[in-house]
Amino acid sequence: NSDCPVIAIDGPTASGKGTVAALVAANLGYQYLDSGAIYRVLAVAVAKLGLNPEIPANLLQIIAMAANLPVQFQADQVLLGGEDVSDAIRTEVAGVMASRLAVVPEVRNGLLQRQRDFRQMPGLVADGRDMGSVVFPDSVLKVFLTASAQVRAERRVKQIEARGQKADFQIIYNDLVARDKRDSERAVAPLKPCDDALVLDCSNMPIDQVVATIQNWARERI
Ligand code: CDP
Ligand code: CDP
Repeated sequence: NSDCPVIAIDGPTASGKGTVAALVAANLGYQYLDSGAIYRVLAVAVAKLGLNPEIPANLLQIIAMAANLPVQFQADQVLLGGEDVSDAIRTEVAGVMASRLAVVPEVRNGLLQRQRDFRQMPGLVADGRDMGSVVFPDSVLKVFLTASAQVRAERRVKQIEARGQKADFQIIYNDLVARDKRDSERAVAPLKPCDDALVLDCSNMPIDQVVATIQNWARERI
């Protein structure tokens, strides 16, 4: 399926990747891969079993789980072994556990094929940290979408409040900076723009403008 065009959108947490990637995919009639959701589903599965990735025997079990994760994406639902975990994967706790698991190379390898399976005609928009660098290095367009930590934390707070939950800016901000650091400093697939990525700082851009910019770039290349 190397003829199938991929648009890779990578970047730090709360930069808007997910929102923008889903809109671009819908507008182009492409498949959409939220790769972070796969890491988050593994995190929920790990938490359910009470496993600790710092304990070597537990880590072996987690690595085995990664390669055979019973995850399904169905319309708006994410299922783990048939159970709806759509809400459970969106908690900050799941995000933090996901980023702890994501530093393990064997975990990343285990999840690789599952992500590549999303590449189907007429095309794919994939968002994450390493879509352009590792998972789909032959992407026709690689975007590194970013925004300042301040703006990203503000957006995350709004997003949580819109769900009717309470959010503390300082806690969200600190967690976001810590997750950026862990994602950027890890040895495998660190968070950074690849050489052939177009960097888009959307700190001061509304969503529709980000979507239009990416679609213009895509039109030039596909
Ligand atoms: O939505 P947010 O950007 O906060 O996170 P996410 O994309 O759902 O990903 C959760 C965690 O999974 C990230 O902090 C990364 O550590 C990890 N991840 C990754 O390592 N590689 C990916 N392609 C996607 C996510
Ligand atoms: O997937 P990622 O963690 O990168 O971010 P997201 O969940 O798609 O976006 C975080 C929040 O920022 C969402 O509520 C978006 O609607 C919002 N956003 C925005 O207000 N302006 C942008 N240019 C991009 C995202």
